[in-house]
Amino acid sequence: MKLWKGRFSKAATSSADEFNASIGFDQRLYKEDITGSMAHAEMLGRQGIITPEESALIIKTLGEILDDIEAGKVEFTIESEDIHMNIESILTERIGDVGKKLHTARSRNDQIAVDIRLYLKNETALLDASLKALTDALEKLAKEHTDTVMPGYTHLQRAQPVTLAYHLLAYYQMFSRDRERFADCLDRIDRLPLGSGALAGTTYDTDRDFLAEKLGFSQVLPNGMDAVADRDFAIEFINCCAITMMHLSRFCEELILWSSAEFGFIEIDDSFSTGSSIMPQKKNPDMAELIRGKTGRVYGDLMSLLTICKGLPLAYNKDLQEDKITVFDAADNLKASVDIFTEMILTMDVKKDSMEKAARYGYMNATDAADYLVSKGLPFRDCHEIIGKMVLYCINRGIALEDLTMDEFKSFSDKFDDDIYDKISIRSCISAKKSKGSTSFDSVAAQLAEIDGSKK
Ligand code: ARG
Repeated sequence: MKLWKGRFSKAATSSADEFNASIGFDQRLYKEDITGSMAHAEMLGRQGIITPEESALIIKTLGEILDDIEAGKVEFTIESEDIHMNIESILTERIGDVGKKLHTARSRNDQIAVDIRLYLKNETALLDASLKALTDALEKLAKEHTDTVMPGYTHLQRAQPVTLAYHLLAYYQMFSRDRERFADCLDRIDRLPLGSGALAGTTYDTDRDFLAEKLGFSQVLPNGMDAVADRDFAIEFINCCAITMMHLSRFCEELILWSSAEFGFIEIDDSFSTGSSIMPQKKNPDMAELIRGKTGRVYGDLMSLLTICKGLPLAYNKDLQEDKITVFDAADNLKASVDIFTEMILTMDVKKDSMEKAARYGYMNATDAADYLVSKGLPFRDCHEIIGKMVLYCINRGIALEDLTMDEFKSFSDKFDDDIYDKISIRSCISAKKSKGSTSFDSVAAQLAEIDGSKK
C-alpha cells in the first residue's frame, strides 16, 4: 500500500511503479535508514512531539526490524518504492498507528540525505583502512628493495637509474595523498541534513543539534534547502575514488608492462593471474588489467553524478535518486581494487637481476658523465654536447660509456681522468644524488625514516 496514496484517484501502472522504485539498490541503506529513524524517534519523544512511550515503542520495533532484515527474514517490495517507505510500512504493520507517527517532522528528502551521509562516513573509514594496508605494503616492499636498482623512465625511455624502493615510495606518496583527500572530503560529508523536512524546515519544535550529536555528525547544515538538494559531498567522494583509481591504474599499467617478456622485471603470483582458454603457455595479468578497466568505470560514475546534478533546480528532484547507483559503484569498485592490488603486490616476485641488467644499458649514466665534466669546471651545456657525441660514438660501436678506453675518453675531453669509471658506475650514479627527495640510498633511507616518524 502506498504511503502517499491519499491524493491519488488512480494507482500507478506496475511498470511505472517498477520504474520509480529504488528499493532494488537503496535497500543497502537499511541500517543507516533505521539508525536515522531511531534518532529521529528519540528526538520526537524528547521534544514532546510524540509521547515517550510511543518513541520507545518505535525505537524498540525498529531494532527488531533491523535484526529481522539482517537475519534475512524481511522481504522488501517494489510497491513500497524505497528503503524509507519499506521500513515505515513494516513498522506500521507491526505497531499500527504509532508507526505512522514516525514520519512527523521529516521528509524522505532529508531522510535520504542523512542515509547517504551516514553510509559515506562508514565507507570512508573502510576505504581508509584499505588504503592504509596498501601504503603499509608499499612501505614494506620499499624496505626490502632499497638496493634493487632499476631504470627510471621518462617517455617510457630509460632515463636515469633509480632504486625500486624510490619508485615504490612515489606510489606511497600518491596513495597517502588519496587518504588525505578522503579525510578532507569526510569533513563535508560529516554534516547533518536531517530535520530540514522536504525543503523549508518544519513547524515542529525539533532539535537538530540533538540529532547531530546522536548520529555523530560534527555539524548541522545551516540551510534546509541546501541540505536536501546538495550532493556535492557525494561528487567529492567519487572524485576521491576516481583519483585513487587513476593512481592504481598507473601502477597496474606498470605491472602489466613489467610482467611482459619484454621487461621481465616481475612475475605476478599464479594466484593473481589467469590463463588462456586457447594458448596453453599464457599467464595473464588480468587483475591489473581489470583494475585499469574499472578506473574507466569509476570515472563514469563521477561524470554520471556531475551530470545528474547539472542544471537541477532547487531543492530535491527525483533525479537525485540515481546518485546512489554511482556512489555505491565507485565505492565498491575502489574497495575491491585496492584490496586485490595490495595482495597482488605483496605476492609478486621481483626479478632484481633483470631490473639491474636493464639499468646497465641505455646510457642512463650520461647525465652523471656530464655532471663529472661540470665538476671539472666546464659549463653544463658544453658537457651535455660532449657526452651526447660520446653516446652516439658508443651507439655506433654497440658499447656502453664505461666500456670506452681512457684514450677514447680523452679524445672527447682532456678533463676526463681514471676516476670517471667509478663516477659513472650505476650505484655511484644513484648515491651521488644530493637533492632532498632524490633516489640516492641516503635520501630513500631518509624518506623511509620520515614515514616511520609520521606514524609516531
Ligand atoms: N528514494 C528517494 C531517493 O532515493 C527518496 C527521496 C524521495 N523523495 C521524494 N520526494 N520523492 O532520492
